[in-house]
Amino acid sequence: MNTKVVILKQDKKETEQILQEAGEIIKSGGVVAFPTETVYGLGAHALKADSAKKIYAAKDRPSDNPLIIHISQFEDIYSITSNLPEAAVQIAKAFWPGPLTMILPKGKSVPYETTGGLDTVAVRLPEHPIARKLIEHSGGFVAAPSANRSGRPSPTLAQYVIEDMQGRIDMIIDGGEVGIGIESTIIDLTISPPQILRPGAITLQMLRNLLGEVEVDSAILSENSTKAPRAPGMKYRHYAPKGELVIVTGKTEFVIKHINHKAEKAQKAGEKTGIIGSFENIKQYRCDVVKCIGSREDEESIAKNLYRILREFDTEGITQIYSESFEGDGMGDAIMNRLLKAAGHRIEKAAEV
Ligand code: TXA
Ligand code: MG
Repeated sequence: MNTKVVILKQDKKETEQILQEAGEIIKSGGVVAFPTETVYGLGAHALKADSAKKIYAAKDRPSDNPLIIHISQFEDIYSITSNLPEAAVQIAKAFWPGPLTMILPKGKSVPYETTGGLDTVAVRLPEHPIARKLIEHSGGFVAAPSANRSGRPSPTLAQYVIEDMQGRIDMIIDGGEVGIGIESTIIDLTISPPQILRPGAITLQMLRNLLGEVEVDSAILSENSTKAPRAPGMKYRHYAPKGELVIVTGKTEFVIKHINHKAEKAQKAGEKTGIIGSFENIKQYRCDVVKCIGSREDEESIAKNLYRILREFDTEGITQIYSESFEGDGMGDAIMNRLLKAAGHRIEKAAEV
């Protein structure tokens, strides 16, 4: 398949034409990658079973892993859900458009191919203007997983979508770098109290402030959980770089020593070694490739750079990676959730020497 790659420029009229063309492709059953404020998405018609199948094929995604339906105006939620709890309206008022997905009872119009066989449906109203316009032009309901091949980090730049999807989909819209860099928060409103199934930029605290009682799916908190996560996608070892990634925790000065020591040993053993460090500590690291993920004062910068750095290590052929740990009140949960998955939960505590 020939994949058309278009770069959006400032020209409003040209952008409108491109988005109309992309909308036509989706309406007639094709697949288009587009930017959202979280990560790039792979869009197809959400209410057509064959469209959903094309997404699974393009991503090599297991068909039991359901898709999020993206809408461009709140009212459209009524035609894809069978019952809308009051909490959904509250959440929409507070956080939509934005990086938050709600799990709700599925309406009849939604095919089981889109929901991976489930009677619930995931819905998000994104903030990105390109995404919103494209959804409008596509008929209002766009199923869109992250635009990576299954198992790869979600794309934060069109260049990574091209790497993963060239020749597999109809069109890629390059709208520049995304704003947030990790996927939306998922909250399940089909159970009581509501549960966070995937942490993101809308945090547990923000949701508790709005709704009162909110829990986190215990299956995503521990690698040893015997329970299956309620979001099927969370069970897969996602975002894994090709090299082995180890996260080091502990007091900063010991973490730096530990990482330098381990990296030196790995290098001597013939590994091509990489380090992920924060801006505050970066000058103190020594190894083949040292990458600054952002400042500890600015968690958003860390979220934004994470997937790009993991992909760069792959391109550079890094075989052993050590990373600092990034727990924090705001996006810390979301960052650590992705980093732990990328590391296959390999954590070392720096010894206090
Ligand atoms: O930020 C985002 O949410 C991005 C952009 C493109 O919008 N999309 C995204 O989609 O991350 P995807 O397919 O990569 O992740 C969707 C997650 C998966 O873990 C899936 O299992 C879960 O949502 N999910 C979808 N429908 C669900 C449902 N009905 N019940 C539970 N989990 C569901
Ligand atoms: Mg994904």
